[in-house]
Amino acid sequence: MKFFVDTADVEAIAELNDLGMVDGVTTNPSLIMKSGRDIKEVTREICAMVAGPVSAETVALDADGMIAEGRELAKIADNITIKVPLTWAGLKACKVLSDEGRMVNVTLCFSANQALLAAKAGATFISPFIGRLDDLNLDGMELIEEIRTIYDNYDFRTEILAASIRSVNHMKEAALIGADVATAPPAVIKAMAGHVLTDKGLDAFLKDWEKTGQKIL
Ligand code: G3P
Repeated sequence: MKFFVDTADVEAIAELNDLGMVDGVTTNPSLIMKSGRDIKEVTREICAMVAGPVSAETVALDADGMIAEGRELAKIADNITIKVPLTWAGLKACKVLSDEGRMVNVTLCFSANQALLAAKAGATFISPFIGRLDDLNLDGMELIEEIRTIYDNYDFRTEILAASIRSVNHMKEAALIGADVATAPPAVIKAMAGHVLTDKGLDAFLKDWEKTGQKIL
């Protein structure tokens, strides 16, 4: 499973990128707002650092507006993925932009039928939002499973990009189901390294090591 980082925080991306943990980046208008940066400036910086796809989201509501914004965002760098919402207009924009050979990420997906339409419209990535379904007492992971089955049934090339990931369990479950990509906040990716038994075991080893009186360096 590829790891995308769901943030526009350049320092957080750099830390994970140095570890080889970053296969791509996803941003959205809320994350740009949180960064306090100009969208083009911060996206250009991210694209220069990360080799993989970097999603930048359009904000127009009509297809022509999305297409124009998408083409403008694509000028930032070759690895820009244009993000459009899963509306009828978004699907139209997806078809036009993907026919131009551009990468398109169709976002705000909450049903398997929406994902089926995005694949038909040529989306490079579909972004089902797990956490926001879980927030409503629905099962976000069930949606990932359904899309996996449908895409595999018909050999769709659109990659399932599990989004709105809030926990380490979301990461594990997305990987078990076979999501192609998971995009998660930096804190969730870092939390995957933690385990209480690792901490406990390390503590015991260090206490015993101290008793030996030895030094390695
Ligand atoms: O990738 C989409 C993501 O940013 C949404 O996450 O936590 O706002 O639902 P969240």
